[in-house]
Amino acid sequence: MNIAVLGYGTVGSGVVEVFFKNKANLQKKAGQELDIKYILDLREFPDDPHAALFTKDFAQIAQDDSVKVVAEVIGGLEPAYTFTKTCLERGKSVVTSNKELVAQKGAELLEIARAHQVNYFFEASVGGGIPIIRPLHMCLAANSIDEIAGILNGTTNFILTKMIREGMPFETALALAQQLGYAERNPAADVEGQDACRKICILAALSFGEHVYPKDVYTEGITKITLEDVAYAADCGCVIKLIGRAKRGEHGGKLSAMVAPAFISHESQLGTVDDVFNGILVRGDATGDVVFYGKGAGKLPTASAVVGDIIDCAKATGTSPSLRWNPSEGGNVASREENVTRMYLRLQSDTVKLPQAVGKLFGEVHTLNRAGQAADEYACIISERPEHEIDAAIAKLEGMGVTLMGKVRVLDY
Ligand code: HSE
Repeated sequence: MNIAVLGYGTVGSGVVEVFFKNKANLQKKAGQELDIKYILDLREFPDDPHAALFTKDFAQIAQDDSVKVVAEVIGGLEPAYTFTKTCLERGKSVVTSNKELVAQKGAELLEIARAHQVNYFFEASVGGGIPIIRPLHMCLAANSIDEIAGILNGTTNFILTKMIREGMPFETALALAQQLGYAERNPAADVEGQDACRKICILAALSFGEHVYPKDVYTEGITKITLEDVAYAADCGCVIKLIGRAKRGEHGGKLSAMVAPAFISHESQLGTVDDVFNGILVRGDATGDVVFYGKGAGKLPTASAVVGDIIDCAKATGTSPSLRWNPSEGGNVASREENVTRMYLRLQSDTVKLPQAVGKLFGEVHTLNRAGQAADEYACIISERPEHEIDAAIAKLEGMGVTLMGKVRVLDY
């Protein structure tokens, strides 16, 4: 069985490396001979040990019927979408790490795969090397999944860990994450939360059976988190993590989904997930909580998941029946304003008596302290209420001349 690899970036070169390193073993597991026949990339790699396999011509791959599995590791929507569609329509299975494409076009591409009796597998699209897609639609198939929440982006978890443990500035930690091959080509997708958003959309679609579009999911990154917020979190036994979460709608209503930084207990399962590691908590009605943990980014962990999918394509006969969800027009996610949450607030004013003003608007609160706290700064956690109420109360404070310095949801995971 011949394989083609589309894209020779961090993940693509990892796929080729893992494949040739473990080829004999992979063939045993697949029960047949396997070979990489083409590597597609527009760049030149004259000194690469696999230089003879390179082509710039996608049509050569599409038209070669001996190529049965294609690994799309280009990333982004185009040309990945057109290439994937063409391959599936020509009866080739496609495996990918491309979360952007799956989150945007997953329902459609799965349908095309089914129509041509091939597979579209994307284990590497969520959680890097952590098995999560296959466990969700196979091992946990007996459950109704009620909720799924996780630390889904290695880069931001790496940055936050460096800020929390070493007081490292944001930019230094980001540069380090880029050097280590964790970050997206445009790291704004990591730090602004879009990468985690794509991943929670995929997990939500798989868990709740309907396509969820990233545009419908409120997404907030970590760029506004400061070392002061980190210190206040520590005062209540919490750490700040970027959490992606999705919950089944009650009584058939809209589902709730969001990506945002959150205070979570440093002793909780997700609170102990540090560095580039990801943690994903799945709440099933039969299993209760199941937690998946491992390296969520990086060349070889991600390549491991892609190559695993290649082996599964070689072993599979026909399309996997359980990997599917229904298309959607969008608009199936409740708005941020309806979200009910506890909230950490950091406020500053040299004229308003903040504890009194906050008490009047929010009732009883949990006051927080930090070393070096300025006299005109006040931080607290307010009790649970809908976000539209919190927004309105903050607007009142701002009307009185109070500055909002920080606002982070407080979660129970
Ligand atoms: N940039 C991503 C991350 C890579 O940091 O998690 C894996 O999807």
